[in-house]
Amino acid sequence: MTADMNNASFDRQYILSLESTCDETAAAIIRRDGVVLASTIATQELLHGRFGGVVPEIAARAHLENFLPVLRKTMHDANVTIEDMVAIAVATQPGLPGSLIVGLATAKGLCLAWDKPLVGVNHLHAHVYACQMQRRESIFPCIGLIVSGGHTHIYRCESAAQWKLLGATIDDAAGEAFDKVAAMLGLPFPGGPELAKLAESGDAAAHKFPRPMLKDAQTLDFSFSGLKTAVRYCIAGPQSSTIDSSHLSTEEVANLAASFEQAVIDCVVGKCKLAMKRERLSRLCVGGGVAANRRLRAALQELADRQKFELLLADRELCTDNAIMGAIAWEKIKAGSFDDLSLDVKPGLVRG
Ligand code: KG4
Ligand code: ZN
Repeated sequence: MTADMNNASFDRQYILSLESTCDETAAAIIRRDGVVLASTIATQELLHGRFGGVVPEIAARAHLENFLPVLRKTMHDANVTIEDMVAIAVATQPGLPGSLIVGLATAKGLCLAWDKPLVGVNHLHAHVYACQMQRRESIFPCIGLIVSGGHTHIYRCESAAQWKLLGATIDDAAGEAFDKVAAMLGLPFPGGPELAKLAESGDAAAHKFPRPMLKDAQTLDFSFSGLKTAVRYCIAGPQSSTIDSSHLSTEEVANLAASFEQAVIDCVVGKCKLAMKRERLSRLCVGGGVAANRRLRAALQELADRQKFELLLADRELCTDNAIMGAIAWEKIKAGSFDDLSLDVKPGLVRG
């Protein structure tokens, strides 16, 4: 590995980054200085849509089918040689076990075939690192917030290698709540972006939905399951075992969407305010699918302006899953930290 790094001149050192933690199969080629030469994402929305959520077994099989075409396209678009590649990076935690295994097996296969070292990437750290991609200076130290379909987590990030989990959702993730409420409103999976669109024409004050755990200044944890249930009761009443929103007018649907979205935003912004105050850091970096939400972005910017801290939001196209954010692997490589082929996946999240 050292030989590779010495042979390739500095501006011709690349990594191949792979991502398959959930239902996106992605690959990217990233130069040592962060320049992205190619990026490909194969989504599986059509496969999972009719089930109303990601089906793990289907996701793993689709990764298996998608990886080779995704890799071929990425290598072709980047037009780099295998000799210029200094390592293969792959997201190994957290995520769906089957999906992670397919990604890691693909990465290990390439390492063996090309004689390249392996670098494991933490998918949540990578979501925060997406904020680094448009920047010359380091994002560290910072508070890192991930708001995605699977996670709602706040970290204290001392460096690319030192992360301390400060708080996390105790039930649903923010994106999961968006998707479930969207489904109640009859929107196709994943409904988060559609719900956000509907919310634009709605009145966020129409319904006073709960803001779970927001007032509890002792914790940086989140909870979105009760909020989701409150929306359900509002649509169908507490007794109903089925949910049908077809009796609602377009205006009523928009008002429900806007009121729900505002409740999520208030919870996220409130905990960010608490984290910034408690940890005494001056930079907040935000990534994950829900960070693409325009109103959330605006609300976080307002908070940052008021509290006078620096806010870095991942570019909207880098919020949802992609392999570009795997550029965090370069931090490990520069520190001389590689993994060997005994590396395993870690599907669950280790707290702390
Ligand atoms: O980061 P991501 O691609 O996958 C995970 O790692 O979980 O996030 C996907 C989530 C989905 O729940 C999706 O509905 C949500 O992000 N999402 C949004 C928006 N765009 C994507 N939620 C609210 N507003 C959006 N604009
Ligand atoms: Zn993600």
